[in-house]
Amino acid sequence: MTAQIINGKAFAGTVREKVAGHVARLKEEHGITPGLAVVLVGEDPASQVYVRSKGKQTVEVGMKSVEHKLDADTSEEDLLAVVDQLNNDPDIHGILVQLPLPGHLNEDLVINSIDPAKDVDGFHISNVGLLGTGQKSMVPCTPLGCLMMLRDHHGSLSGLDAVVVGRSNIVGKPMAQLLLGDSCTVTIAHSRTKDLPDVVRRADIVVAAVGRPEMVPGDWIKEGATVIDVGINRIERDGKNKLVGDVDFASASERAGAITPVPGGVGPMTIACLLANTVTACCRANGLAEPEGLTA
Ligand code: GUN
Repeated sequence: MTAQIINGKAFAGTVREKVAGHVARLKEEHGITPGLAVVLVGEDPASQVYVRSKGKQTVEVGMKSVEHKLDADTSEEDLLAVVDQLNNDPDIHGILVQLPLPGHLNEDLVINSIDPAKDVDGFHISNVGLLGTGQKSMVPCTPLGCLMMLRDHHGSLSGLDAVVVGRSNIVGKPMAQLLLGDSCTVTIAHSRTKDLPDVVRRADIVVAAVGRPEMVPGDWIKEGATVIDVGINRIERDGKNKLVGDVDFASASERAGAITPVPGGVGPMTIACLLANTVTACCRANGLAEPEGLTA
């Protein structure tokens, strides 16, 4: 079997168009412009690239974008004061503090100081608890993007065997909760899992989120399974820099029914879902109906 390629880049474009449509309606009918604030502490080059891209796409869909760039040696007190000011700003509906933070800052403390209703990353402990108990929450962007692509491909996910490889708070655990919410039978596998190949071979859906280049080979994939590759790993091959996923794309695409490529799969969906979450937060803050198809 040669797998269908799930085009995340095109899908993200569709999500952004939907977001832009809702933003236009919020402006026209209610005089409200959704606002997203991104806080960046320090000068990590990868974070700077992400933040620039977020700001650009926020403006492109018609939302207000605010950036707070703070020095690497900013104190916890000063950072918390910035978050507090954004929590109390009625023009700001979403707040994202770019991670990782410099080592002297307590990430959990900072994330949990964000108003949960504005926590468009879905990392606040309240949102984690709400998601885990099946209640309305803000959902982490990368798993939300994966869920959207899976729903689009399968229609219903009910009863399917899903294996999530990786147990991070940002991807693995919320991904498992979302799949459970859509009535999959869910296994979370990780580096200590016994017989990992056999566990993955049972899956109708494989979500790989371990951060290890090409660690899932094609012969672990059940014929016809859907493979969602969250990994973005920079490697050197044949003297060239290359981006590869956590799945060996060449061999896995021979067996899978559908697969996301790297790049151009999950990656573009993350920022699109951040924009979707900001519109959702804005609608909730104003007591308006939430946009359909943009939440879990
Ligand atoms: N750093 C890398 N990805 C992310 C993300 O999705 N959210 C935040 N806050 N920081 C990140």
